[in-house]
Amino acid sequence: MPETRSARFVSPPFVQGTVGERAAYLRKEFVAPSVPRRAILRSTAVGLIEPHLNGSVVGDEVLAPGWTSYRHRLIVSTHDVTDKITAGANVVGAVLGEGWAVGRLGWEDRRNHYSDRPAAWFELELEYADGTRDIVISDPSTTASIGGVGANSIYDGERYDAREEPDGWDSPGFVDDGWVPVEAFDWPLDALAEPIAPPIRRIEELAPTQVLRTPSGKLVVDFGQNISGWVRFTVHGETGSTITLRHAEVMVDGEIEVETLRTAAAMDQYVLRGGAPETWEPRFTFHGFRYVEVEGWPGELTDDAIRAVVVHSDMTRTGWLTTSNPQLNQLHSNAVWSMRDNFVGIPTDCPQRDERLGWTGDINAFAPTAAFLYDVRGVLGSWLKDLAIEQQEKGFVPWVVPDVLSTPSSPTALWSDVAVSLPWALYREYGDEKILEDAYESMSTFIRQVADLLDDDGLWSTGFQYGDWLDPDAADDNPAGGKTDRHLVAGAYLCRTTREMADTALILGHDDDAAEFEALAAKVCDAFRREYVSPNGRLVNETATAYALAICFGILDETQLQHAGDRLAAVVAQAGYRISTGFAGTPLVTDALTSTGHLDEAYLLLLETKAPSFLYPVTMGATTIWERWDSVRPDGTINPSGMTSLNHYALGAVVDWMHRTIGGLGAITPGYRRMRIAPQPGGNLAFADLTHLTVHGEVRIAWRLEGGQVSLDVAIPECTTAEVALPLHPDSALVEIGGGEHSWQYNVAQVAERAPLSLDSTLREVSDDPAGWHRFTEVFARHYPGVPLDGKAPEAAGMSIRTMLDYVPGASAQLRDELQSALEGSSR
Ligand code: BGC
Repeated sequence: MPETRSARFVSPPFVQGTVGERAAYLRKEFVAPSVPRRAILRSTAVGLIEPHLNGSVVGDEVLAPGWTSYRHRLIVSTHDVTDKITAGANVVGAVLGEGWAVGRLGWEDRRNHYSDRPAAWFELELEYADGTRDIVISDPSTTASIGGVGANSIYDGERYDAREEPDGWDSPGFVDDGWVPVEAFDWPLDALAEPIAPPIRRIEELAPTQVLRTPSGKLVVDFGQNISGWVRFTVHGETGSTITLRHAEVMVDGEIEVETLRTAAAMDQYVLRGGAPETWEPRFTFHGFRYVEVEGWPGELTDDAIRAVVVHSDMTRTGWLTTSNPQLNQLHSNAVWSMRDNFVGIPTDCPQRDERLGWTGDINAFAPTAAFLYDVRGVLGSWLKDLAIEQQEKGFVPWVVPDVLSTPSSPTALWSDVAVSLPWALYREYGDEKILEDAYESMSTFIRQVADLLDDDGLWSTGFQYGDWLDPDAADDNPAGGKTDRHLVAGAYLCRTTREMADTALILGHDDDAAEFEALAAKVCDAFRREYVSPNGRLVNETATAYALAICFGILDETQLQHAGDRLAAVVAQAGYRISTGFAGTPLVTDALTSTGHLDEAYLLLLETKAPSFLYPVTMGATTIWERWDSVRPDGTINPSGMTSLNHYALGAVVDWMHRTIGGLGAITPGYRRMRIAPQPGGNLAFADLTHLTVHGEVRIAWRLEGGQVSLDVAIPECTTAEVALPLHPDSALVEIGGGEHSWQYNVAQVAERAPLSLDSTLREVSDDPAGWHRFTEVFARHYPGVPLDGKAPEAAGMSIRTMLDYVPGASAQLRDELQSALEGSSR
């Protein structure tokens, strides 16, 4: 910041920081002797600020200054306003709302987390042609009053009464009778900070896809997409009429359903001035919604009168993937939208309910996906800075950053260890060692803290853990109570983070630390194997999550790895390819299958549509990733557990596997200077197109599979190289390429002709074909619910299905017919 910080924080004497308080309007009139050659306005607030100058809003940022660890870092917005200053009288103004700093945050109905009232800070620096400089600052000569903006709350919405807006309040010459001087407000000036993250802006507008009347006669606008933001409308009507907008993510029985918002009212209200058409949108709130119920609209609401305004951090998009499967494309789109909707300043859990907090576990699970889709160096770099500051201040990594929880957080896997894995994920994506350097202290402090908690066996066996959060087999009211031992989850994640820590120390040349962390990594890995893994590689806790973690975190040796992979394939088959993992296992289960030679099973898991599964929400019309696998149940009702957001990105982390396995792009060296291009077609996919803007330039991969022919087109940036594994190539060819465009066409490897499956196939033949076995067991389970069929087709492996059915009591002709068509329809 420049040394010109003479401005003071100011707060109008009438603001109390209480529930439902109206926004404050501030103005300061000044005289410019001539038109300046340069004018810069800097502004921020404890609360939310909309800066004004000479009759209009300055800049296109919204919800400024966003949400940071305000007492340590309060972000200042800077705008060049040279062309807005005139010679003579001018006015700097601001509208000041409660925002995150003053309003309620979290589900415990607590407010005033940072301040008991809002306050503004601004300075306008003027530089004249003759080199003289002047500065107009917020100080007690600023006056304040109230205006159209009424109660305003991030969760509950905003009220605006157009009749109360003082005409011309932000222009020179306004008669400010009744306006009162502001008071000085005490806030640390050294918290003022330059932004690291891009600002929050209006990014896109959506027209209604439908305007409808509900069975109870309500008017509802459907925007076709669950978003974060608000609605803008233009209306013509009588003075005093009131329009009420209620926002919702979903409709049940034809009416909007607000259960997923919990206590967030998400309601905006506009009172008409009357006369000419009026256009309005809120400024100090945002909602997570797809539907808006409109009450009190004068006359008929036409499509062109209303828009949904998508609002989030203005990041650059860097990743795209399209495939031949529309359901997968929708799943991908859902992950992209959930990311957009949850990057409103900080990475949050959800954008709609009384939460919207910077939950560490959610972004930890989703970070590699996020870093592929958008340039997240700004938003996540800023957030990591706050994490480190608060960790240092509090002595622990908070579960939510910025921390507004009423109780201290204890170290937990996947949540607190974001301190290590997020900088590591960003380093892998961008190849910038500075990211590790900046985070080093935070990373190493966390790891040493956990090292002190280990028991005599080297296990992380005590303390609270979230475990495999939201395992679909856990009771609805106990999301941490998944079937995978939570200390196993913690131990596995610790194997990963100690490894990342040791590598980080090595990269940065901290050799003593590297040796210390290397030894710790070996110790916790040994302890894990002793406690949880049989010599052959079977895990004591046979769940998909346990196997996925052990396989992906480098815990097992070669032979154990294969056995574990085979066991995992059996576990997922046994679950009928329904998902059985939560936050901890879901990002990794498809990787664990693929890396141990079970690509078919990974595709079966990915493409399953029955609940719970990756695609079930897609079949239910989801446009974002849900918090629970069954947030909306098959009968269309909302899961009543009270934690059923329809917009949580964590379980969308599978999209990262899609980028690497379907799209085929993986970084060998951090930042993709050297990469591996290895699409692995499967699941009847006929093509995929991937584009990724790496720090070195654009990578494009497109493959097509048609009539036994593969075509592969690849383009990589000049300064990069890649190892290309040609998909389905007869010789499994590996090719080295440098920067530029490359194309290949060839015939698909001849797969040894196998007889199609039928009732005459043996149980072994059927069980060796994951898709055939899946169909077979599904039909069987329908007729004989509860009768177990093991994925390995045990004793009777050599017996034909036809013969086996002779031994099955009551096997009907219908069962035989259904089995026959299920087997014929398999993937052979
Ligand atoms: C949030 C989650 C979060 C979890 C942990 C929930 O209320 O929405 O996504 O990670 O709490 O307790």
